[in-house]
Amino acid sequence: MSANKESWGSRIGLVLAMAGNAVGLGNFLRFPVQAIQNGGGAFIIPYLVCFLLMGLPLLMVEWSIGRYGGKFGHHSTPFIMDAMNKQPFWKYIGVFGIFTNLAVAAYYCYLESWTLAYIYHSLVGTFHNKDSGQVAAFFSDYVNVNSTTTSIPYEAIWFWLLCLGLNTYFLSRGLKGGVEKVAKVAMPLLIMFGIFLAIQAITIKAGENGAINNGTAGLNFLWTPDFSSIWSPKVWLAAAGQIFFTLSVGMGSIQCYASYLKSKDDIALNSMSAGWMNEFVEVVLGSSILIPISVGYLGIDTVVEMTKNGGLGLGFRTLPYLFEQWGPLLAALSGTFWFGLLFFAGITSSLAMGTPFVGFLQDEFNWNREQAAWMFGLAILLLGLPTVLFFQYGVFDEYDFWAGTFSLVFFAFAEIVLFAWVFGMEKGWEEINAGADIKIPYIYKYIIKYITPILLGVVFFSSLPDVWRQVTNQTLYQQLAQAQLSQDQAKIDFLEKSIAFVNASRLLLLATFVGIAALVAVAYRKRKKSKLNH
Ligand code: ALA
Repeated sequence: MSANKESWGSRIGLVLAMAGNAVGLGNFLRFPVQAIQNGGGAFIIPYLVCFLLMGLPLLMVEWSIGRYGGKFGHHSTPFIMDAMNKQPFWKYIGVFGIFTNLAVAAYYCYLESWTLAYIYHSLVGTFHNKDSGQVAAFFSDYVNVNSTTTSIPYEAIWFWLLCLGLNTYFLSRGLKGGVEKVAKVAMPLLIMFGIFLAIQAITIKAGENGAINNGTAGLNFLWTPDFSSIWSPKVWLAAAGQIFFTLSVGMGSIQCYASYLKSKDDIALNSMSAGWMNEFVEVVLGSSILIPISVGYLGIDTVVEMTKNGGLGLGFRTLPYLFEQWGPLLAALSGTFWFGLLFFAGITSSLAMGTPFVGFLQDEFNWNREQAAWMFGLAILLLGLPTVLFFQYGVFDEYDFWAGTFSLVFFAFAEIVLFAWVFGMEKGWEEINAGADIKIPYIYKYIIKYITPILLGVVFFSSLPDVWRQVTNQTLYQQLAQAQLSQDQAKIDFLEKSIAFVNASRLLLLATFVGIAALVAVAYRKRKKSKLNH
């Protein structure tokens, strides 16, 4: 039995930590961009349907699975799943619940560290008197670690190390002393900063300070329902992917947080509170900042064009320049609030990503909290280094595809099959309702049993062609063929390097998965031995 006897300090602390886990960079950077890329109002309907039919059921399931595993002293998915069914392979499916967190944290913490750097630059006025091209170039310089033009040499590395240090430190303080305290400070501040920025954004007036549209133009684009997308698989896949990412389902972190609940604690009301809080932050605040400001100054067509290759550009390359249109004081304040909000959103999520690995080391190898937290810091340092050094070669995106997209869907599919069909829906429904402070509509019993697994299966299987395209580097090879046709040697060299780095990073991720699986096997043998000895 594990010596890990941690627990949550208070209900409000638990809900804020769970909401903080969900509310992340995805709410403010990924959601608006997914919405723009998928036709604005055309995205919202599939998004809301996916929330109701996949997001909410998965929240209930993951909270239940976690609390159930916690009864047996398990705090990470390999042994939580083992407690639910003794078929040996479930432990190894459970490896995803540690692997995904480590691999997402590896690139996520790098992104999180940019927000620290940008808070600093907003405060010291780095973006004053710069034109849009210069502000955008600042970002390219920043992520190019070899660049010598940043004001602090190797700036991106220093801020990244600072961010890893903060994560490790807060994790080492434990659930009550670290995670919960951070959530109690970060979540209210995040919401205040968000409301301030949303008001600024929505009150933009066409013709003032260079704006070409009212702030509401972006909101109209997003919130005018457009039913044309109902038959587009691509939009549905994007909506489902966003729901997984934003709620942090299919990762293993919710199960881990829930495993620290007591067996009679409510999960029905708590899970709904955290889930709906995330949706409030995403659909209300997340859609009221980036899009209205960008559309206000640049127009819808330009914004759609700019987000074709992902959305990080808009938040880091463009927004600091647009804030400058409000004058130096408001620009400094808005920049600090925007990147501060992103930092708070990020750290409350990355702390949740650290907890499963820390819990695993505590449970299975009797490490203390500090040792386990520092081990997590070291693992993220090593696994994250390629995303920092080879960012421009697509390593960051490769991690995002395997850990932040593919693994989430696969693991969510596997765990709902385990819960509803192997563990059994009768027992499962009892688990969900045990200690419940609200009555969950009965229809969810059938949704969890039939609809959610079918939808997840459809999402998973229809994403396989994308997986194949990714494995065979089809986009990169197509670009390479074009570069060869136009005899653009610099581009050819760049793409050849990209292919090599992307392949290497994929092997590193695979090795990480195998490494965790080996640790699980060792832990399992240890458990069997100690049972025999007793
Ligand atoms: N749920 C976290 C986010 O939205 C991972 O960023």
